[in-house]
Amino acid sequence: MCGIVGCILKDKEAAPVLLECVGKLEYRGYDSVGIATSASEIRIQKDQGKIDAFTENLDMKELPGKLGIAHVRWATHGLPTKINAHPHTDCQKRIAVVHNGIIENFKELRTELINSGHKFSSDTDTEIIPHLIEKYMDEGLDLEEAVRSAVRDIRGSYALAIMCRDEPGKIIGVRKESPLIVGKGEDEYFLASDVPAVLNHTNQVIYLDNREMVILDGEEIIIKDLDGKILTKEVHTIEWTPDMAEKQGYEHFMIKEIHEQPDAVKNTLREEEDIRNMVRDFPEFKKICFVACGTSYHASLVGKYLFETLVGLPTDIILASEFEYSGGALDKDTLVILITQSGETADTLKALRIANEKAETLAIVNVLGSTATRDAKHVIYTRAGPEIGVAATKTYVSQLTAIYLLAILMGGKEELLETLQKIPDFMEEALKTEEEIKVIAKKYKDTYDFFFIGRGFSYPTALEGALKLKEITYIHGEGYAAGELKHGPLALIDDDVPVVAVTPPGHSHNKTLSNLEEVKARGARVIALGSKEDHVLKSEAEDFIGFPSEINEMFSPLPYVIPMQLLAYYISIYRNIDPDKPKNLAKCVTVE
Ligand code: M6R
Repeated sequence: MCGIVGCILKDKEAAPVLLECVGKLEYRGYDSVGIATSASEIRIQKDQGKIDAFTENLDMKELPGKLGIAHVRWATHGLPTKINAHPHTDCQKRIAVVHNGIIENFKELRTELINSGHKFSSDTDTEIIPHLIEKYMDEGLDLEEAVRSAVRDIRGSYALAIMCRDEPGKIIGVRKESPLIVGKGEDEYFLASDVPAVLNHTNQVIYLDNREMVILDGEEIIIKDLDGKILTKEVHTIEWTPDMAEKQGYEHFMIKEIHEQPDAVKNTLREEEDIRNMVRDFPEFKKICFVACGTSYHASLVGKYLFETLVGLPTDIILASEFEYSGGALDKDTLVILITQSGETADTLKALRIANEKAETLAIVNVLGSTATRDAKHVIYTRAGPEIGVAATKTYVSQLTAIYLLAILMGGKEELLETLQKIPDFMEEALKTEEEIKVIAKKYKDTYDFFFIGRGFSYPTALEGALKLKEITYIHGEGYAAGELKHGPLALIDDDVPVVAVTPPGHSHNKTLSNLEEVKARGARVIALGSKEDHVLKSEAEDFIGFPSEINEMFSPLPYVIPMQLLAYYISIYRNIDPDKPKNLAKCVTVE
């Protein structure tokens, strides 16, 4: 998983623009950076590490030209080293390529190319691509034909940006299963993995579909399929401003995005009419099956409880990466709901392809034009705006909101819409706990293990709290159904292990309270989240985070997750970790 960019500018040097654009894609990977520009020859600069360090050591004069391509890498094949950084080139260094995706048959192709005399200098799967193009150009094909022939040989996923010394002034892009967009500015042309990369230059965007190719020559945008047939594509106007993709004064994207959550929920709530129209045309389903990964999986788990409670349909929930092994019991009466903020998660897209063959599919997605939105039979956009922090925050609450709307409308429980409309205000209240959370975060920043517990609608919140902690603080956090503790993990509890208990008023409250007694008896220090008026809970806890008492269990996942996100964020800050770029992770996981 990586980010790629290309540009052809009219009267500016490409290198600084490429750096700026690819900087907006750092959430896709930050193992290495590389740029190639073209004037009389192709010049390349690349290195391991993040963009800031790369830029500091870069002499822009080394990268002349108004045209170029750039890359940020999240390593899949080959270590995150300078040698493996993109762009990669052919033997004669006349072709430069940046790639996002995985070439599954690269070993066979590499062996064939080496046997016919090609010399490789990296361990990447990508490097076979410039060599394949070189092979076809040596056979007499022009760049466009050679790219087409090369991608026909490739098995796997790719978004590519390619330039060649022999055809200066041209960039070719091509995609299969990895995203690629084209940006059209004033006599300026861009290619990128995602929209934020180009927003400072244009809001006019074309989404390429699988097996489509774009040829940019500084005059026009030509889009073709892989048989060379010219295609006409819609140009979309993007309403996100460049500012929306920036930090707006916050220290990190994550904290900015945490604060944007009430607005994100309001935006999703605006989808009510579209969802109502969609639901009206639904056939009568007999079963629901949620499929997702990570945080989106936790949203799905809330969905399971909601659909079983409000719609009364049996509801499965399957991790997308397990779907091909266990997702078989589907038929035309099943609605498969895929939750994915990016719309590009490889596991989820694979599950979507399988599900499409047997059942009705609905994708709940944040990124407009992403693959899931094009592959699913029905789509709900969460409209949370761009989320740059690797840890999902505002897209999670937007996903939840879309699921609440869907369950309420499918279940005919319209009276609950009024409560849902009040949720952004309750979330504003939850954000006011920030100062208290800072104190708790400071107190527990050096802890090795945390437990997060909850029952019913609070169980997914506990899982999400633990995932946030793990991913951005590198502290072990275990999310558990409170009632399950006594079946094993209670053995791990002692006075070194804080237990965060999600205990809103409602059906599960008293039982969770008993579970708190059990952990306290083993020495655990309890951080409890509950109603401000819950004096019993307050007296049981060493630290207490209070919420308005009107927030009942069913709607608690939306506001109650906020202190969890803040806790992880501030522990990460106190441990000197960059929460926007946790190690080993990337925003969008486009490999299985
Ligand atoms: O884009 P998706 O919603 O499909 O992503 C799924 C997971 O990769 C994602 O939620 C991941 O778990 C987040 N980094 C969690 O904060």
